[in-house]
Amino acid sequence: MIVTIDGPAGSGKSTAARGLAARLGFDYLDTGAMFRAVALALLNRGIDPANHVAVEAVLDELLLDMPPGRVVLDGRDVTAAIRAAAVAQTASKVAVVPVVRRFLAAEQRRIAEGRDIVCEGRDQGTAVFPDAACKFFVTADPRARAARRFRELLDKGESVTLEEVLASQHERDTRDTEREDAPLRAAADAVVIDTTDLSADDVVARLEEIVRRCATARL
Ligand code: DC
Repeated sequence: MIVTIDGPAGSGKSTAARGLAARLGFDYLDTGAMFRAVALALLNRGIDPANHVAVEAVLDELLLDMPPGRVVLDGRDVTAAIRAAAVAQTASKVAVVPVVRRFLAAEQRRIAEGRDIVCEGRDQGTAVFPDAACKFFVTADPRARAARRFRELLDKGESVTLEEVLASQHERDTRDTEREDAPLRAAADAVVIDTTDLSADDVVARLEEIVRRCATARL
């Protein structure tokens, strides 16, 4: 059974997806991490994401492995490296390139094949798994999202201001929602959850209840 969770940056969807998967005993796939890994591969090679020919050549040679909780790129564990702010910005540029989206969508379908899995990203319920059993769109007020990201970055020792985080979030949101190929939006049959005033535990509990109802309805 496939459960999809889509939503903008900082909406709390990753925490929710991880928590939900743990509660259900499902696998978990962070598809944003896959875009970040491609971004890191381009940064490492000094390739501009706008150069689609060069990007396609990198996809042909890159080795991306997604073992549970980790991201391995060309044999190197890049789980921590892909979280840098520069990688996030490049990832959202990489995400507008159709050949990258096609490549990663095929990988995501291959990974999910025959599994009980929670797939989290921007286009999982709309483009990659349109027939998923249960779909969510998790969102929150932009200021609340930026404040969460800001706290995370401060905890990691990065020196940023809330206004900078808000501006970079706005830039990424605009690119994610306005791109032509698989833009960020809620699937028509997704349950929309606004997490602005909910705790992480409340969000997981709400998702779990809906998935269990959805699974029972399918029997
Ligand atoms: O969720 P994240 O911040 O790790 O995602 C990084 C970037 O990847 C984000 O700007 C949008 C893009 N992305 C996407 O286009 N489609 C997905 N399924 C997941 C992420």
